[in-house]
Amino acid sequence: MTGNQEAFDRARAVIPGGVSSPVRAFGSVGGSPVFISRASGPHLYDVEGREYVDLVGSWGPAILGHAHPEVVEAVQQAAARGLSFGAPTLAEAELAEVIRDRVPLAEKVRLVSTGTEACMTAVRLARGATGRDLIVKFAGCYHGHSDALLTAAGSGVATAGLPGSAGVTAAAAAQTLVLPYNDFDAVRTVFAEHGAQIAAVITEPAAANMGVVPPEPGFNALLREVTTTHGALLIYDEVLTGFRVSASGWWGYEGGVEPDLFTFGKVVGGGMPLAALGGRAELMDLLAPLGPVYQAGTLSGNPLATAAGLATLRLADADVYARVDHAAAQLSSAVSDALIRAGVPHRLQSAGSLFSVFWGLDEAVTDYVTAQRQNTDAYRAFFHTMLAAGVALPPSAYEAWFVSAAHDDETLERISAQLPAAVSAASRHAG
Ligand SMILES: Cc1ncc(COP(=O)(O)O)c(C=O)c1O
Repeated sequence: MTGNQEAFDRARAVIPGGVSSPVRAFGSVGGSPVFISRASGPHLYDVEGREYVDLVGSWGPAILGHAHPEVVEAVQQAAARGLSFGAPTLAEAELAEVIRDRVPLAEKVRLVSTGTEACMTAVRLARGATGRDLIVKFAGCYHGHSDALLTAAGSGVATAGLPGSAGVTAAAAAQTLVLPYNDFDAVRTVFAEHGAQIAAVITEPAAANMGVVPPEPGFNALLREVTTTHGALLIYDEVLTGFRVSASGWWGYEGGVEPDLFTFGKVVGGGMPLAALGGRAELMDLLAPLGPVYQAGTLSGNPLATAAGLATLRLADADVYARVDHAAAQLSSAVSDALIRAGVPHRLQSAGSLFSVFWGLDEAVTDYVTAQRQNTDAYRAFFHTMLAAGVALPPSAYEAWFVSAAHDDETLERISAQLPAAVSAASRHAG
């Protein structure tokens, strides 16, 4: 049998860092990643046959748990009919309708393959629609790895402590204005100075790529107000929150703010490579073939991915969201209680069913600068103790913890039973 270490060594010889996406390499927590051979419900199984309770959920898609039988069957049936046609299918229209029914502001929807593509296209569409160049984003928000959006990004860029990325031209970076999240004055000032050149504000309406940082009351409404006043667009990047924090994502959970464009990913593809952007019909119709803003993809709207997304969204009913909310509430309070009991300073923050712990802080984390003050050594100790006990957490302190409808009380108890030892390990690095 191939062991985890052997698998990693073999992968590293032919794949940079041994991984297809950086955070998987355990760079910020140290040690070697476990290599997964299969997953089912709330569990992952590594190549050595060890079982883990999974709190990553493929970084968001697995809201039903892994390999839900009805989703797998839908994909198998689609596969038997053909893997890719490069021609339209009715299932794409069905999925777009399901998205529009949940988020009516997404009157029209374009299916793409990744969240990166969805955000990149939304930015291009905003520039095409307004004839303007500048984009406003917030430090610590991650919108995928396109050039315009990598500046001061969260997620893996935060994990690696990188300021951005080599290979992004100064020209691309100069067209992205980066502001602190939740900074009302910075938003007003940037619009006072550059309002006529700003094509769009792109935001995670509840940030979850620098740890979980919810918007301050009124912050998203301010974004709506200034963009409207200055003729810019507001893009809600709901790749992570969409169809996870509620049936209609953060938009439905929050209520009241009406963005121009949405991006979706993760849950919408049910674990397959599928993402989407949506918005008002007249804006979306600026995309090719109707309009001048070009966007395309050989595998866009792939029939297997579309089948997985459709099956997942059809199964994700009120009961599923209630179970996810219950699991998140139970687990987050168990973690917080264990940390309080051990006297470990921390701040637990949540946005709907997404939550994360900021280690060694007891102030509210409202932006990226504060998030970066956390003690990642404490998390490293906690993470490895949990992993050794069969609980797989995100391998970075800057990521949200993901639960699913398959995380039942028995599974949650299994996690809770491991908390005292992990918290004790973390406490040796706390403060
Ligand atoms: C909010 C947000 N936007 C965009 C992306 C990029 O999506 P993808 O990894 O599918 O390219 C992510 C990925 O984590 C995300 O969390």
